[in-house]
Amino acid sequence: MEIKVFDSAVEVSQYVAQMILEEVKRRSDSVLGLATGRTMDAIYHQLVWTAQKNKVSFKDVRSFAVDEYVGLKAESENSYQHYLNFHLYQQLDFNRKNTHIMKTSMNRIDDTCFQYEELIKKVGGIDLQLLGIGMNGHVGLNEPGSSLDSRTRVVALSSTTLKSNKTLFYEESIPNTAVTMGIGTILESKKCLLIATGETKSKIIQRLVNGDVCSQLPASALKTHKNCELILDRDAAKLI
Ligand code: GLP
Repeated sequence: MEIKVFDSAVEVSQYVAQMILEEVKRRSDSVLGLATGRTMDAIYHQLVWTAQKNKVSFKDVRSFAVDEYVGLKAESENSYQHYLNFHLYQQLDFNRKNTHIMKTSMNRIDDTCFQYEELIKKVGGIDLQLLGIGMNGHVGLNEPGSSLDSRTRVVALSSTTLKSNKTLFYEESIPNTAVTMGIGTILESKKCLLIATGETKSKIIQRLVNGDVCSQLPASALKTHKNCELILDRDAAKLI
């Protein structure tokens, strides 16, 4: 895992947005894996601004969300579907037929997970996977204890994640389960960018960088990936 440290979160978002644009310019129908969360806000904002300025089209880009809550209403503004629509899809010329997220309201949720994996395989795998890291080291919503070869599945959210993410919810309470790409699914991506900004992530980044690969720190699995960058601002990197 190559570590890159930038002076500020703005520089991180500029760098990551540029990487995404280069990927889309390289191959107009690239397959992107998309994370959500606070870290990604600035990155998507920068991506939209730069893509519009440089007139880069996303009409053939395929995308797969990394996770989604279970049990939210279809129109819920707290869903990751809504997040990606708001921050990305409706800002650029994505063709909605090419954008994918787990349909967690369906009854046969295990079938949904299986079909998601099949669809990723059918398009030839993920070219560029964006990832944030949770305060407890989760990637996607693979919580501590997740098997390092896990696949897309339903997971119970940890108390750390519920506490951290419930502040983002309004008008409904945070579900305690979600569907996430597995760690095994993520590791099959051709390139991964693991991104952390802000001092609140500095302790988990210290554990990630200094520790071994272990299921108690799911993001550590990315150390076994051949093409993964850990992209930090100075605050997130302050303990390494
Ligand atoms: C959230 C998301 C993850 C995200 C991570 C970091 O729970 N489900 O996909 O990468 O945790 O979130 P944040 O950027 O808000 O700290």
